[in-house]
Amino acid sequence: MRPEDLDRFRKWFNQYTQTFFLDDREGQKNIDLKIEHTGHVCSIITRIAESQALTINESLIAEAAALFHDIGRFPQYGKYKTFRDSISVNHGRLGADVLRHEQVLDDIPENEQAGIINAVRFHNALAVPDLEDPDHQQLLKMVRDADKLDIWRIFLGFYESDQADMVSEAGMGLPDLPVYSDEIILDIDQRHTASMKNLRTMNDFKLMLMSWAYDLNFNEAIRMLDEQDYLNRMAAQLPRTETINRVHASLLSYVHERLNKLGPQPTITSPERSIKRHEDVR
Ligand SMILES: [Fe+2]
Repeated sequence: MRPEDLDRFRKWFNQYTQTFFLDDREGQKNIDLKIEHTGHVCSIITRIAESQALTINESLIAEAAALFHDIGRFPQYGKYKTFRDSISVNHGRLGADVLRHEQVLDDIPENEQAGIINAVRFHNALAVPDLEDPDHQQLLKMVRDADKLDIWRIFLGFYESDQADMVSEAGMGLPDLPVYSDEIILDIDQRHTASMKNLRTMNDFKLMLMSWAYDLNFNEAIRMLDEQDYLNRMAAQLPRTETINRVHASLLSYVHERLNKLGPQPTITSPERSIKRHEDVR
């Protein structure tokens, strides 16, 4: 892949997403959110790529995968007016279909096309599937880490500011009740990422976001999580119960363990589960 391919992809992204622009303010805010998110995920993946000392070609592929990771969000919102996959469509799969159907990647080598399409397809799966090609596997993990980091930024931005600014699709339709679910706590206690299927309240959602720390693949991503103080900031948005204090402390100690044994290669310390259920938010 050449730098001019990435320029062409950026132009295509701008043109394609413009076809989903809306007259209603609320709808357009949802579209804008995803365009802005894409830009941030591209920046974050570039930092992860630098930390891995990738070749220029690999870095370009990583940025292309980040650029396209949520391309399915646009036709999803266009058709269903929601970002909730569970009541519409799996936006990872839809994104992969869009790239194939629109023949966006046709001018780059087939193996690179396959890597990008896989990364888009599986970026929102609950667990990382086993891909045969190690480069494809690494690319998928980079997209997943970069995506998670920016989702923390987005939601903390909502929680820490006037929530009236929260775009309509960001609340995931969950009630803001002062409780949380045992299943979510159990997942975190087992050092798993919590599943969306168990979410009942906004607090569950916040806890699920915290649990994503267990699914970060790259040390650079752990560093960014720590730099931005995401875990402490999210915990500050939750009730201060003994249970929440406990899971918060255990997540922090996990992150500190990771920071204390940095190595050049990505490591996966969270237990991988074979479930490939898709998840809404990413
Ligand atoms: Fe996504």
